[in-house]
Amino acid sequence: MLLAGEVYFKTIPTIAIFRKSTLFVRFLMKNAALANVPKHIDHFSKFSPSPLSMKQFLDFGSTNACEKTSFAFLRQELPVRLSNIMKELNLLPDRLLTTPSVQLVQRWYIQSLMEILDFLDKSPDDHSVLQSFVESLETIRNRHNDVVPTMAQGVIEYKDTFGQDPVTSQNIQYFLDRFYMSRISIRMLINQHTLVFDGNTNPAHPNTIGCIDSLCDVTEVIRDAFDSAKMLCEQYYLGAPELELREMNSNNVRDPIQITYIPSHLYHMLFELFKNAMRATIETHEVSHNLPPIRVMVALGGEDLSIKVMDRGGGVPLRKIETLFSYMYSTAPRPDFGDNHRAPLAGFGYGLPISRLYARYFQGDLQLYSMEGHGTDAVIHMKALSTDSVERLPVFNKTALKHYKVNLEADDWCVPSKEPLDLAIYRVAK
Ligand SMILES: Nc1ncnc2c1ncn2[C@@H]1O[C@H](COP(=O)(O)OP(=O)(O)O)[C@@H](O)[C@H]1O
Ligand SMILES: [Mg+2]
Repeated sequence: MLLAGEVYFKTIPTIAIFRKSTLFVRFLMKNAALANVPKHIDHFSKFSPSPLSMKQFLDFGSTNACEKTSFAFLRQELPVRLSNIMKELNLLPDRLLTTPSVQLVQRWYIQSLMEILDFLDKSPDDHSVLQSFVESLETIRNRHNDVVPTMAQGVIEYKDTFGQDPVTSQNIQYFLDRFYMSRISIRMLINQHTLVFDGNTNPAHPNTIGCIDSLCDVTEVIRDAFDSAKMLCEQYYLGAPELELREMNSNNVRDPIQITYIPSHLYHMLFELFKNAMRATIETHEVSHNLPPIRVMVALGGEDLSIKVMDRGGGVPLRKIETLFSYMYSTAPRPDFGDNHRAPLAGFGYGLPISRLYARYFQGDLQLYSMEGHGTDAVIHMKALSTDSVERLPVFNKTALKHYKVNLEADDWCVPSKEPLDLAIYRVAK
């Protein structure tokens, strides 16, 4: 007869062995799946991403709204977009790729890719599949929330250890512009699907489909962004410049300026430009009680909608303009996030480059014209017609590959000598 204790001691090892073996099987399966990741990336990166137009985005979410179609499109398109950019991530210099931060970002991408691939063999006709797809997309979106500061951290780790050189800086700039653009586009796809098919309509905004407003009131967004920047500015500097807004609708002078756009993208760009303009204005007019206003001009033409933000904040020398858009030279996030010496109106130095990506995402642009000693004009250009607003997406191909293989070559413009030229050596002997 067995004593209770003996049973106890006999069964535990069996359970332990069983648990160990299932863990081991899971470990093997996970590793097998991981081992296949490069194959999947190779496969999906052979496809070019399919850029969507504003109209297609609207169609997905309105009359033709069909969750099954959207599901079938996304389970192919998301792996394509992810794989195209993962190929480029792998081409980063080893010393950057192996930093803990970049490794973490790479793991997030691999995990998300695998989670979407799980849906490839599932039936769109099964309602629970569609439901769990929405949930997976939400999980993926949350997982990738901190990609920008984490990558920035990787760049800092690299810069602190190895310093900067022109070739690596150029590589990193090229990569990050494409990587963050890809990220904006992937989040756009995820947001549209989850917002449109989560079962809730938004009766307060009948023109809104997902995050797109087919009648986006541009001046309303300008005023909103200005008010938020002004509030921050007043909190910190106890004062803020006023807004002077003018608009010109060439189609019909009396009509408000409205386009099909994503209000949150427009808000993001304007908020960044206003924070910069306010900070520059205050810091160059500290002693003066009369702060010059920030003037904004909105113009709608046949092709473009342009917004110019003009400040009298002293401007930036021409030589520095390009570096304001650089990820490498920026005052990017340091590990101590609680740095309270930093003016709250300034962020991590990513305000301008990321805003320019938002503008470019739908074929627009963001440019700075500065006159040092006076002030800066920042201009956002957007497409006026929704048929022209088509996603601008990076694609991994031979041309992209070439960019990562640049070598440091001699400049084909002369480098001016720092020493004055000694003309004596040219003196002809008499
Ligand atoms: N309107 C402006 N006037 C003067 N300097 C500007 C202006 N806009 C941007 N800058 C300069 O460009 C830098 C980078 O801007 P940004 O990308 O928004 O990052 P951050 O504001 O976080 O530093 C600012 O720190 C500032 O030195
Ligand atoms: Mg800024």
